Amino acid sequence: MENKLKTLKNKAEKEIKETDNLKDLDGIFRMYLGRKGELTTILRSIGKLPSQKRALLGKEANEVRHVLQEAFDIKQKELGWYKEDQLAEVLDVTAPGKKLQIGHLHPITQTRRKIEEIFGSMGFVVADGPEVEDEWHNFDALNIPAGHPARDLWDTFWLKAKRDKKPLLLRTHTSPVQIRYMQENEPPIRIIAPGRTFRYEATDAGHEINFYQVEGLMVDGKISVANFKAVIQEFFTRFFDKDVTIRLRPSYFPFTEPSFEVDISCVLCEGKGCSSCEHTGWFEMLGAGMVHPDVLRAVGYNPKNLQGFAFGMGMDRLAMMKYKIPDVRMFFASDLRFLQQF
Ligand code: FA5
Repeated sequence: MENKLKTLKNKAEKEIKETDNLKDLDGIFRMYLGRKGELTTILRSIGKLPSQKRALLGKEANEVRHVLQEAFDIKQKELGWYKEDQLAEVLDVTAPGKKLQIGHLHPITQTRRKIEEIFGSMGFVVADGPEVEDEWHNFDALNIPAGHPARDLWDTFWLKAKRDKKPLLLRTHTSPVQIRYMQENEPPIRIIAPGRTFRYEATDAGHEINFYQVEGLMVDGKISVANFKAVIQEFFTRFFDKDVTIRLRPSYFPFTEPSFEVDISCVLCEGKGCSSCEHTGWFEMLGAGMVHPDVLRAVGYNPKNLQGFAFGMGMDRLAMMKYKIPDVRMFFASDLRFLQQF
């Protein structure tokens, strides 16, 4: 055993001396002093020897360990393993800076800003209203009393009512902002009201339960459907930066008379038909019409002297057409691979 220790010491010292890099030095350390190293194995086996031999060999083996450990430490320093050096590497002032990752605006926000810019240049001001609405502003004032079948079209999420209070709801459209604005302002009125809306309905490529609309309202002495057509055509041309074909279909809303839906030729399939436009080649963008006299009465206006148009446009759908997005649900999926494209 004594000879074995001597041979091991000489061999290890020679190898340590001859090595010229930290990687090899680490390998040598493991070979002799590592968990399964040769010297470690000898040190472990000493415990099983008779007590006299154990004391003698134990002393010698520990001395070898001490000598080798010292040789390793010296060589390590020699090869440049200083803590200070490591620190210097970390603080390399010549290294190029790391680029900060900054976010950007969501495509819906970009769309809202563009809409505000275009309507703003046509003299429309931006109005705002609450997302949690009361029943009167969302329905009754818009000529949709309780029990009216139109309430089924705008099924929504109701909040639990506090005692003696009427329940509140998540607004189904931005139309209640019309009411709030007219209650507080006198004509002439020219507003848009962009914001978040909610519906309790099945989702598909064109429908979400949580989406965005932009409301438009113009009220004055002699506002006509022709004014509406001119405004909306101008808006689409500027929004898409090209001539867009629009069509007005007769429709029904309790708060406008006459009422119509406005479609644009589907930009995704160039009018040929795809899943987003339900294979019709047309994409429904907004509901619109001439403000119903009952709505004007509900806010205290005299319908004999006033008339106007109103519209409610799907902001998500505008963004889908602008950026050629095939499914409205992508906006809320929080998938960075999608969002980083805008
Ligand atoms: C309304 O919400 C009426 N308030 C619009 C209006 C305002 C009419 C003023 C007359 C006067 P409608 O339910 O059709 O109407 O919705 C308007 C637009 O919102 C639709 O044309 C569509 O672009 C968008 N939209 C409706 N439901 C969804 C949905 N689930 N997901 C995404 N967009 C939707």
